[in-house]
Amino acid sequence: MSKQAKIRRTTVPQIAGRKGGEPIVSLTSYHAHTAAIVDKYADFILVGDSLGMVMHGMESTVGVPLDLMIMHGKAVVRGTESALVVVDMPFGTYEESPGVAFRNAAKIMKETQCGAVKLEGGKRMAETIHFLVDRGIPVMAHIGLTPQSSNVMGGFKTQGRDEDGWAAIEEDARAVAEAGAFAVVLEGMVEPLAAKITKQIAIPTIGIGASAECDGQILVLEDMLGLNEWTPKFVKVYGDLGPAIEKSVKTYAEEVKSRAFPGEDQVYK
Ligand code: KIV
Repeated sequence: MSKQAKIRRTTVPQIAGRKGGEPIVSLTSYHAHTAAIVDKYADFILVGDSLGMVMHGMESTVGVPLDLMIMHGKAVVRGTESALVVVDMPFGTYEESPGVAFRNAAKIMKETQCGAVKLEGGKRMAETIHFLVDRGIPVMAHIGLTPQSSNVMGGFKTQGRDEDGWAAIEEDARAVAEAGAFAVVLEGMVEPLAAKITKQIAIPTIGIGASAECDGQILVLEDMLGLNEWTPKFVKVYGDLGPAIEKSVKTYAEEVKSRAFPGEDQVYK
């Protein structure tokens, strides 16, 4: 029996079934080694297109190519055995038509062996979500602050500050749920709106900068580990890895320069 055949991952119906139940734990991961750690605690792992900014130094997620998502998706699937792996569809690979979205989502799923894809957009993406789900591709939706639309939105802005805008966002949430998405990420949304949407729709809401009332939470791993110099205000930082890495690199550099670096006789005993 192959290793893969023995792997029993959390399934899409299991995540969908957690609506109103035990909160869903999720984090992003982009590599096999961090994914293996996250896998012990997370119900699902998102290979988010935030990797363009976090790992590749891009200014936004708009420039992330499909092949990069596939490469990181493969690494995360290889490094894990129990979490559901969800891979983001990058900007430009799904908006044009349901057919284009199917072709690219199928490519992601075939090449990475992930369990689902995520795409941004509410009502305007409902037809595409329905098309994909109907053809065997589980879809996680993403509404509120949608980083791929940051050029239209004028930056990364919390949604719903003006109560007049709530109805449209609530409609987005209903539309993706009715179209067949198994869960929806609510990003950068005022707390009472995210709590209201969570009560209104039948699929789990996954909050990021939204509300503790959501059915689950997600954070960008590098943000919560303290690896980035800047993190969004809503991120609770659980680690101090940036300074810890710098300290190790500095010590190494000092040892090399002072010839205190261990020689072959000490390393290969
Ligand atoms: O790309 C990403 O990491 C995401 C999360 C912020 C939800 O979409």
